[in-house]
Amino acid sequence: MNLLIMGLPGAGKGTQAAKIVEQFDVAHISTGDMFRAAIANQTELGLLAKSYMDGGNLVPDEVTNGIVKERLGQDDIKERGFLLDGYPRTIDQAYALDQNLADLGIALDGVINIEIDPAKLQERLSGRIIHKETGETFHKVFNPPAGDYNEDDYYQREDDKPESVARRLEVNIAQGQPIIDHYRAKGLVHDIDGDQDIELVFATIEKVLNNLK
Ligand code: AP5
Ligand code: MG
Repeated sequence: MNLLIMGLPGAGKGTQAAKIVEQFDVAHISTGDMFRAAIANQTELGLLAKSYMDGGNLVPDEVTNGIVKERLGQDDIKERGFLLDGYPRTIDQAYALDQNLADLGIALDGVINIEIDPAKLQERLSGRIIHKETGETFHKVFNPPAGDYNEDDYYQREDDKPESVARRLEVNIAQGQPIIDHYRAKGLVHDIDGDQDIELVFATIEKVLNNLK
């Protein structure tokens, strides 16, 4: 299956993506994760991405389109399929993706659109913690790690500071709707209520994907 997962920052894309790739064995392609890996490795791409990400702004389209194009061209994609998380994020990225998939002879099967009231997202992002060793995402209140955990084993994302979050929401609200409209016109969008327990959100997505298989 070839899928997109969309939703505002904190909607639960990464949380659901981890479950989807486990259940359906598709390649998880998260542009945010790719940029964070580049930052951690202190590459040129990482330095560039950081200058946009820390302020909650989007990395320029030509850079982002380039890294996605390269990843989609790798051998495993045609065999396994993919779940793109956090891309496309501008209408021009959506057009670039369409062209790129057409060139590769790949068709999109569906777009999972996680819907949630933006007013709830600040709380989701300010409480998010990520396990340093495994990269697994948790939430201090909504999804805490099991048992007594050591806070030193977890980190918070640089762009989860309130100033960056406000900007991320502004940018993503403005850019997101035309992309959803674009894919809705193609009959690909499945709206999912993101304001339910993590397991309930996944159960809804699982039903949709089982029908697509
Ligand atoms: P990216 O990493 O994609 O961040 P984002 O879109 O802002 O989304 P998040 O990862 O913050 O949220 P999520 O939806 O994955 O939520 P999560 O599951 O973690 O992008 C970061 C930056 O990189 C961008 O700002 C930009 O600068 C750059 N970038 C990336 N892609 C780009 C592109 N295509 N073009 C240009 N620039 C790009 O959940 C959040 C929290 O809520 C967690 O703590 C989780 O445990 C909790 N939670 C999840 N689900 C639930 C639930 N149902 N109930 C209660 N809590 C929940
Ligand atoms: Mg994410």
